[in-house]
Amino acid sequence: MTLVKSVAVLAVLLAAVAYFAVRARRLYRMLRLGPNENRFDHIPERIRGVLSYVGLHTRMFRNLYSGILHFFIFWGFVVLLTAIIQAFGEGIIPGFSLAPIGGNTWIASLQDLFGVLVLAGVLMALINRLIIRPRQFHESNEVDALIILGLIATIMVGMLGQNAARIVQGGDPSASWRPASSAIARLFEGVGWRGTAAVPVHEAFYWVHILAVLAFLVYIPSSKHLHIIVAIPNIFFRKLGPKAGAALAPIDLEHAEHYGVSQVTQWSWKNLLDLYSCTECGRCQEQCPAFLTGKPLNPKMIIVDARENLYKTVRDAPAGQRRDPPQPQKLIGEAIKEDEIWACVACGACQQECPVLIEHVPKIMDMRRSLVLEESKFPKEAQNALRSIETQGNPYGLPRAQRSDWAGGL
Ligand code: HEM
Ligand code: HEM
Ligand code: SF4
Ligand code: SF4
Repeated sequence: MTLVKSVAVLAVLLAAVAYFAVRARRLYRMLRLGPNENRFDHIPERIRGVLSYVGLHTRMFRNLYSGILHFFIFWGFVVLLTAIIQAFGEGIIPGFSLAPIGGNTWIASLQDLFGVLVLAGVLMALINRLIIRPRQFHESNEVDALIILGLIATIMVGMLGQNAARIVQGGDPSASWRPASSAIARLFEGVGWRGTAAVPVHEAFYWVHILAVLAFLVYIPSSKHLHIIVAIPNIFFRKLGPKAGAALAPIDLEHAEHYGVSQVTQWSWKNLLDLYSCTECGRCQEQCPAFLTGKPLNPKMIIVDARENLYKTVRDAPAGQRRDPPQPQKLIGEAIKEDEIWACVACGACQQECPVLIEHVPKIMDMRRSLVLEESKFPKEAQNALRSIETQGNPYGLPRAQRSDWAGGL
């Protein structure tokens, strides 16, 4: 039985890891399609940023409710990596244990505590999504969030149930260090699951736990929860300096092959990593003066729509055509409307707020540059002013010959 179980665990593990590796490789290769960009300067400052933005959740706490729930889930995952190592170790190597480094004492207590905190975080997230329903989630992918929250809850229930089943079988040296699992164990005893009767219960929770972890691994690469993996590198490679990312990059007019960006693959790897990282939390949207005044622009949807466009045109393109893919959907005009691009006032509030430090402004300006420099397209308001400057020498369209009349009082 033990051998059969070891082989079964190994088989599902390898299948899920292989699938994950294939998807991750494709995502990585997609990043490399665009022009290069150096973000390897000032490493100590970059590390400090990761510790603050990720470890302490500095920007996350600007929204206290989401900040707290995410702090529980994020740190829970870090701590529970030990439980995942333990679960796979037990399945593959009979007799495997973390006991020598405190697996039955302080690690057991931490796992128990964070198991409960993660469940509390998931519950808070569900209340937020299903009952409070803040406007910032409008247009975000709700199903995706519910699937991932469900998987996380299942992983936790699997872990706590397994620990409780082990306790009711008797002789678990960590029992007194696991208050939450012990409480569940008393419930199990109430329905008669104790001693050898609890062996299949333990087995069932073991498989619930493992299969949910693997489903999570398989699901992440094609969901917005890719942020679990890419948020940390995205924060590390953020643009540094005052008004970071808001300043326009110079164009080499002599040598540029294109002006601005009209296709996703013209963006550098960091711009594409930004697209992978968006959690659709809507914090940028809630600070955007254009969105708040009813203009046709939502910075969240700029990122989400550009990501969808990347997936439609490159990820799902036939192999061999990904470098110069067919364009089933144009970036400008179809994925992102011209009105959206013109509605931005370049204030940078969106990127000031984004907890994963996505840079919206350079992307919007890149698309604007393509419209102006490659297609000679201007916003309606500017067209009249520019035409007037061309024909009359002033933006108001007033006759050049009568300038002294109308300019008299200026
Ligand atoms: C082990 C790593 C992580 C896990 C397990 C995790 C898990 C989650 C989950 C489950 C949600 C969904 C909450 C919901 O939709 O209601 C979420 C949202 C989010 N995560 Fe993470 N995350 C991780 C890492 C990170 C990191 C490193 C950051 C960056 C600081 C981050 C930023 C966010 C943001 C901004 C949201 C949206 C929160 C909101 O609704 O306001 N996550 N994460
Ligand atoms: C609902 C109306 C408006 C909103 C929400 C709005 C918002 C903004 C924001 C957020 C900025 C960026 C500020 C920054 O860079 O720090 C900006 C810049 C600017 N706005 Fe407005 N604005 C509005 C109306 C107007 C109007 C009516 C005018 C002109 C009469 C105007 C003229 C400007 C100018 C000239 C700038 C550039 C300032 C600079 O670059 O330093 N705005 N606006
Ligand atoms: S820079 Fe543009 S998209 Fe970002 S908040 Fe300001 S107006 Fe909105
Ligand atoms: S761009 Fe940033 S702030 Fe906006 S929805 Fe995505 S993660 Fe949230």
